[in-house]
Amino acid sequence: MKKVYVLLFILSAIALQFCTSSKKVVTKTKTKTQALTYAGNIKPLIQANCAPCHIAGQGNKKDYSNYANTKGDIDDILRRIQLNPADRGFMPFKHPKLSDSVIHVFQQWNAEGLAE
Ligand code: HEC
Repeated sequence: MKKVYVLLFILSAIALQFCTSSKKVVTKTKTKTQALTYAGNIKPLIQANCAPCHIAGQGNKKDYSNYANTKGDIDDILRRIQLNPADRGFMPFKHPKLSDSVIHVFQQWNAEGLAE
């Protein structure tokens, strides 16, 4: 009977090791492929979707072609892009709703800490 317990203990130790090591690999690849930055990921989306209104020199709304403004307003930006086009405050104003994958990039950038 004792032998069975020892065997079970060894087996679960091995199994646990597998769990932790595979988890580590996942986290590593995640940070590597998804370290979003304003310059690399967000600004191109702003220029594609929020122009001309929110681009300095083109529109007269708050300038989001600038890191500090975008970072400072991220909560409002996230809220507005997730509204439905018929809702008051929806952005991009008078345009179709952003795709889920584009919205996800904004959410991910926020979750990762808003790197410049
Ligand atoms: C066609 C012009 C236009 C486009 C494109 C547009 N907006 Fe706006 N935006 C406005 C107007 C007009 C307002 C002011 C009215 C309001 O607050 O609802 C505004 C206001 C905002 C505000 C509130 C802050 C402020 O300026 O007072 C946020 C946040 C915002 N827009 C985000 C965005 C984002 C993010 C995009 C792109 C995904 C976008 N907008 C695209 C016209 C636009």
